Amino acid sequence: RQAKKPMRKGRLPMSEQKFIEIEVLRYLPESDEAPHSEVYKVPFTNDMSVLQGIQYIKDNFDGTLTFRWSCRMAICGSCGMMINGIPKLSCETFIRDYYQEGQTNRITVEALSHFPIDKDLVVDFSGFIDKLESVHPYIIPKEPRTLEEGEYIQTPAQVQEYMQFTSCINCTLCYAACPQYGLNPDFIGPGAIALLHRYNMDSRDGGSKQRMELLASEEGVYVCSAVAYCSEVCPKHVDPGNAVNLNKIEAAKDYFLRFLSPKGGAQ
Ligand code: FES
Repeated sequence: RQAKKPMRKGRLPMSEQKFIEIEVLRYLPESDEAPHSEVYKVPFTNDMSVLQGIQYIKDNFDGTLTFRWSCRMAICGSCGMMINGIPKLSCETFIRDYYQEGQTNRITVEALSHFPIDKDLVVDFSGFIDKLESVHPYIIPKEPRTLEEGEYIQTPAQVQEYMQFTSCINCTLCYAACPQYGLNPDFIGPGAIALLHRYNMDSRDGGSKQRMELLASEEGVYVCSAVAYCSEVCPKHVDPGNAVNLNKIEAAKDYFLRFLSPKGGAQ
């Protein structure tokens, strides 16, 4: 007598298998005049992320589907995309949250808003990288310090001043959420300003004067219309909207201090 074949681990019988439609915005620059949508019916289990659903499409339906990912644990910041119109990290967004028994369920997945599309879900980040560089995202020492003088000492309170802003993973979801960045791509934008604030608030840093010019410029903080959607979509709770608002105050203070004293303004 033949033994019943055991089911492959992790496989459900077809009658219990759940499916979801994933509608992906496709754009192949070699052949497409404009982006268009394609729909794929994807089987899923409750532990599958949207990123895994997209990987399933690539493995089983169309190997040319192009997207970015690396860590699959919400750390590297590379898997951001618009999921049902909201900027999200696809590796920490679960398909099960878009599924309701007995309904036709569909997730739409598109490249991040406000960035030029290179191919499918991959966007061109070069403008963002330029903005990051422009804020001098490193400690500019107040005065030269020799090795013999030892390390900089910071109190817990001093660390707390900037700690929240160190959590940024440069995923750019805040840029995809920012209506002003959509209108004016020259705006430095929430992510880079949060990073700028991180260094300005560091007691070891003396570079805020250098950064102030940029903050107060036409591409600086005053472009922001305080919608704060950037903070809502931030997966690391950095609150870039708060960084922008705090720097509006700093830029205004700097402006008036320059009038009062030639030596006034940021140090
Ligand atoms: Fe790294 Fe999603 S793959 S954040």
